[in-house]
Amino acid sequence: MLTVNLVLGFLGALAAVSACPDGPDGHTHDHAKRAVPSSPLTPPTRPLVWGDVNVIHTTDSHGWLLGHQKTSFPEPNYSGDLGDFASFVTHMKQIAIERDVDLLLVDSGDLHDGTGLTDGFPAGGIDAHDANQFIKQLPYDIMAIGNHELYIYANALDMHTNFAPAFKGRYLSSNVNITLLNNKNQVVTVPVGDRFAKFTTRKGRKVTSLGVLYDFTGNDHNTTVQKVEDMVKEKWFADAIKEEPDFFLLVGHMPVARDNWPLVFNAVRAVHPLTPILILGGHTHIRDCLQLDGRSISLESGRYMETIGFLSANLDKKGSHKTGNLTFNRRYLDPNRVTFEFHTKRISFNFDTLEGKSITQGLNKLAKKFDLSFQFGTAPHDFTINQAPYPSNNSLLTLFIEDAVPVALAINNTRASIPNIMITNSGSQRFDIYAGAFTKNDQLTASPFADSFLFIPGVPFNVANQVLPALNNAGANERRAMLEEREQHNYGRGYVETEYRRWLEEMDRRNDGVARRAAANLTLGYVTNDACPGVGDDVLHAPLPFFSVPDFIGSVPPTVATPDTPIDLVFVDFISTQLLQILNTVQTAKLYSNADVQSYSPILANAALGLFAQSAWN
Ligand SMILES: *[C@@H]1O[C@H](CO)[C@@H](O)[C@H](O)[C@H]1NC(C)=O
Ligand SMILES: *[C@@H]1O[C@H](CO)[C@@H](O)[C@H](O)[C@H]1NC(C)=O
Ligand SMILES: *[C@@H]1O[C@H](CO)[C@@H](O)[C@H](O)[C@H]1NC(C)=O
Ligand SMILES: *[C@@H]1O[C@H](CO)[C@@H](O)[C@H](O)[C@H]1NC(C)=O
Ligand SMILES: *[C@@H]1O[C@H](CO)[C@@H](O)[C@H](O)[C@H]1NC(C)=O
Ligand SMILES: *[C@@H]1O[C@H](CO)[C@@H](O)[C@H](O)[C@H]1NC(C)=O
Ligand SMILES: *[C@@H]1O[C@H](CO)[C@@H](O)[C@H](O)[C@H]1NC(C)=O
Ligand SMILES: [Zn+2]
Ligand SMILES: [Zn+2]
Repeated sequence: MLTVNLVLGFLGALAAVSACPDGPDGHTHDHAKRAVPSSPLTPPTRPLVWGDVNVIHTTDSHGWLLGHQKTSFPEPNYSGDLGDFASFVTHMKQIAIERDVDLLLVDSGDLHDGTGLTDGFPAGGIDAHDANQFIKQLPYDIMAIGNHELYIYANALDMHTNFAPAFKGRYLSSNVNITLLNNKNQVVTVPVGDRFAKFTTRKGRKVTSLGVLYDFTGNDHNTTVQKVEDMVKEKWFADAIKEEPDFFLLVGHMPVARDNWPLVFNAVRAVHPLTPILILGGHTHIRDCLQLDGRSISLESGRYMETIGFLSANLDKKGSHKTGNLTFNRRYLDPNRVTFEFHTKRISFNFDTLEGKSITQGLNKLAKKFDLSFQFGTAPHDFTINQAPYPSNNSLLTLFIEDAVPVALAINNTRASIPNIMITNSGSQRFDIYAGAFTKNDQLTASPFADSFLFIPGVPFNVANQVLPALNNAGANERRAMLEEREQHNYGRGYVETEYRRWLEEMDRRNDGVARRAAANLTLGYVTNDACPGVGDDVLHAPLPFFSVPDFIGSVPPTVATPDTPIDLVFVDFISTQLLQILNTVQTAKLYSNADVQSYSPILANAALGLFAQSAWN
């Protein structure tokens, strides 16, 4: 029942692309806009703690390369774009030279799917191909493949053919292969990137690196994901870790907690009980840190360019006994120019590098080419998935199913005059909508799933009206077991929203969100409580409000003359199987099957918000 769409569906993201004309002053203009959000950005207060080896970490960027450009908080905290980040990296590299230490740049995957820059390509294009040309311009030391590189074969092939070669052996896919025709027209199966890398840092430290993907099961045909437990038994793996480096840099698209890092870690520890190990994970979109032992650290750095991770390690002094715990430090930065300037001791005037500026300009040009600032209308206020109760006026889910879908599906529809109930899954919405221009980019970030609408005609109102509550009914133990099984299945297919939302919910509860938000000196954002020593967040925040939402959402039931008035039961194809099953449990007069299901409208779910905005927000 789970399709790729569903899986992709929960990936939240929202990035508005600048509507500024791409003129000679486009860049300045753009930054001027971001430098003056509705309230000024306050800088961090603590400098970073540098060590002998330092790492800047990105993960799950999902196309948010122009940063978050809405003015509703906390979006301005994440307003840095890839050009700003490139300038930051350049200055940080310079600081590392002055301090005479090592600084590495690492990414843990998921470059595809999330914004117009990746997904807004014209027909015939390849997701993220153009955006990736800008990522190639950054001096990444190690990158690992993510599950979103593998949903569509063409994307994986593009990574193998056009992306990986730019990193000269440092784009890693330890347990991920692709099958293709080689230049002799033979079918071959090869790693998408490289399986491992060994290199020497500027300071002469030897490093051994892997790029591991968690046990992902939703990959396209002709791509192979080997289970982590099998990977660590491979001969190449044993050979790769045999020689002792100064430290292991284990990168991967796998959460640092509750997944299989211990398998990799233990395999290395079995050979090298004391060698320092740095683990840089990803995938669940949260900020997290833990230590598997006192001479290792595992860091995960959030999602959507809402977080840049910084990690430092003091290695053993020459000649000292290599047994004691090592000192590590980690920090989660809110990526914006204020943060970047603070930590590089720059001001706006001397912050931008030529390369950084050119990346920003290039991304804006790409946004223009994809027509991402095409405006459907103006959102009157914020509509969020979890920051407002469902149903409510500020809920994106309410907006979508009570307003947008009914309006969009009534267009050119001969059945529009027949009363109906419309149902979809809450995972159909991926990212919040913020007040202001609602553009093509916003539509792609908020509601990317091209699900079609089906219906069953002539369902008695009192039957149709029981379907939504029955779908959401979480009472029965039987259903709880089913839910757990579904969750596990979905996790394998790449659905991480459950983990991410659990994190937000816990954050709000643990911090007594209401009280903390009332303390006027704290701004909204992530409040991380991980298992590493000290405070991880670079800027202290109050947590965003969190409201849980049901799995399924529906339109307002129509007023009908009698309970048995026949109405249209409308739903997205994605939930078709479950809906038929439930429909046959809430009544037994008729056995409904696929034969009763018809197409309701040619309009797809991912077009509903735009059509609604054109009619209601103009
Ligand atoms: C983050 O956003 C808040 C508003 O919630 C703002 O006041 C604060 O200055 C921002 N912090 C940084 C470092 O940008
Ligand atoms: C897999 O790739 C091979 C080689 O390109 C091709 O012959 C085959 O048709 C592909 N399989 C599928 C299911 O597309
Ligand atoms: C991946 O490709 C390599 C190189 O062709 C091959 O030796 C290995 O068996 C493949 N692994 C999987 C799991 O397909
Ligand atoms: C070393 O680190 C480990 C794991 O973080 C911890 O359990 C242990 O107490 C530490 N030992 C010392 C001597 O600090
Ligand atoms: C929600 O919106 C409706 C329609 O605009 C309005 O009548 C109602 O007062 C609003 N409710 C709240 C709590 O703002
Ligand atoms: C509705 O029909 C009109 C006239 O045929 C057409 O121009 C318009 O594009 C249609 N609207 C949608 C959303 O399909
Ligand atoms: C905010 O105010 C409280 C109470 O005065 C104080 O304890 C806390 O340190 C302040 N936090 C920040 C980040 O300034
Ligand atoms: Zn991701
Ligand atoms: Zn992922």
